[in-house]
Amino acid sequence: MALLAWLIFIPLQILWLPLSILGALWVAYKQIGVSKRLGLSQTAVEIINGRWTADVFGLRKDTASRRLAGKLPNNSVPGLGLALFPLMVARLIAGRPILYPLLPDDARAGIANMVFNRTARFDSLIAANAADAGQLVVLGAGLDTRCYGPLARPGLAMFELDQTANQRAKRKAVKRAGLNAADVRYIEVDFALPQWIASLTASDYDPSLKTVFLWEGVTLYLTEADVRATLAALKANAAPGSVVLLDLYATRFIDTLGKGATGKTLQATGEGMGFGLDFSGDAEGVLKAFADSAGLRLDRHYFLGLASRNGAFMVVAELVVGT
Ligand SMILES: C[S@@+](CC[C@H](N)C(=O)[O-])C[C@H]1O[C@@H](n2cnc3c(N)ncnc32)[C@H](O)[C@@H]1O
Repeated sequence: MALLAWLIFIPLQILWLPLSILGALWVAYKQIGVSKRLGLSQTAVEIINGRWTADVFGLRKDTASRRLAGKLPNNSVPGLGLALFPLMVARLIAGRPILYPLLPDDARAGIANMVFNRTARFDSLIAANAADAGQLVVLGAGLDTRCYGPLARPGLAMFELDQTANQRAKRKAVKRAGLNAADVRYIEVDFALPQWIASLTASDYDPSLKTVFLWEGVTLYLTEADVRATLAALKANAAPGSVVLLDLYATRFIDTLGKGATGKTLQATGEGMGFGLDFSGDAEGVLKAFADSAGLRLDRHYFLGLASRNGAFMVVAELVVGT
């Protein structure tokens, strides 16, 4: 069936190209233009659209993201559907996605499928830690919907932390999407302000409970000083055995994204590139040294892109708070 899917996909995509472009422009206008006007994060939209796509194509079940994506002022789900329609048809015929979206193994992962690979690794680390945790703290939550899905259970207190404008817009959209937010504590923070931790500790957050801190897709927008200060603040206020699940990016990746049209586009919403680590040589050693310098123990970690000539472009890692 894969061959038939390709045979139908190629002419369909050629004929459909103007509509695919129209859909992509519609999404880009909302994601970049409207985000800029409303002072919202465009990168958070990029990620939820990846999760919407993963759900629609059967790569990862995420009903909450699918519902939330359609209720955002700075997104266009019809545009996304228009852009991806030929691939959806091919998916139906082949019984699996062809070309995009894909979930290659970590070593072969590239930027096109980064969100799918990255989220899969975070999912596995969350699953490995959530069962005996008392709290889940989502740092820089953006439009993440993990607090509105199967993870939610009695006994797991859930917190979402983000910048004011993004969090307020999300809360409105969560309501419009009819997601259950009754058990989510929302805290407005800015990791660039050292006192942000006081907002967490002044809340219901209990520093004596094992906590899963989820910090996905955020460090690359911060300065090294802010990343280090945030980790230090978490370590000082977390029970032993708590974990920080985070992704860290190669300086090469940061430099590439920060340049040219992509860099300018990201700057439009104040999301310029920041912290990275040099993974071009001994990536393992560099990551270990980073964890050691933060006083956290490096546990499971997954480099993405190791098979490429330039080495890994990112890593998803579990850092453990010691006794
Ligand atoms: C790419 S999005 C990732 C969202 C979410 N973690 C996910 O994976 O869906 C980046 C998020 O980081 C947040 N962020 C960036 N800089 C921040 C800062 N200085 N303080 C708090 N949040 C920040 C943005 O508001 C945005 O929601």
